[in-house]
Amino acid sequence: SKKFNILLLNGPELKYVGRKRAETLWFAFSYLPLKNVAKLAAQHDVNLACFQANSEERLIDKIIKVFESGFYLINPAAYTHTSIALRDALLAVSIPFVEIHLSNVHKREPFRHHSYFSDVAEGVICGLGAKGYEFALQFALDFLNKKHKISQNLQIFAEIYRKVHDFAVILPTQKTGFKMTALWKSILKVRLAIHYYF
Ligand code: DQA
Repeated sequence: SKKFNILLLNGPELKYVGRKRAETLWFAFSYLPLKNVAKLAAQHDVNLACFQANSEERLIDKIIKVFESGFYLINPAAYTHTSIALRDALLAVSIPFVEIHLSNVHKREPFRHHSYFSDVAEGVICGLGAKGYEFALQFALDFLNKKHKISQNLQIFAEIYRKVHDFAVILPTQKTGFKMTALWKSILKVRLAIHYYF
């Protein structure tokens, strides 16, 4: 099975994403080669699920249902500037996410300059067109790999803590070389973990 689950969410009118240029979208680069994003996911150890909806309700239902996802990539489209409900849903599940916009919203009308998501997102990408989705996925991969490494290293630290503890307990009664070996092995592992991590 794949190591990570990532969910890509697109808000209203982004349904033509991955197909042809959408007439309903005003921006020039409305066509999104989702294929590239899917390819990138396939190259890595990732399950990428994609979902598009025009209604807040369906987006919220998706956000709160997919608990098993480790990361969300979301373009909330026009809801970016209006939806406290979507923001609350993301906060409720507290799954880290990147906010994506095809266009540079700061170049556009003043009402697009405010986002209900930016202050709670890991990061925001806007104005880079379809490429933004690929960059966001790359970031998500780094983020999840780092998190995975941290939890692995924490397990190693916990193991050495237990070993040191056992050793301290055993030391007064036994002087076996075996326990020493186990202890040194653990120390070596921790040193390796530190070396790779920092
Ligand atoms: C958008 C920017 C929003 O302001 C707009 O309402 C959209 C698309 C973008 O990707 O550039 O629908 O999120």
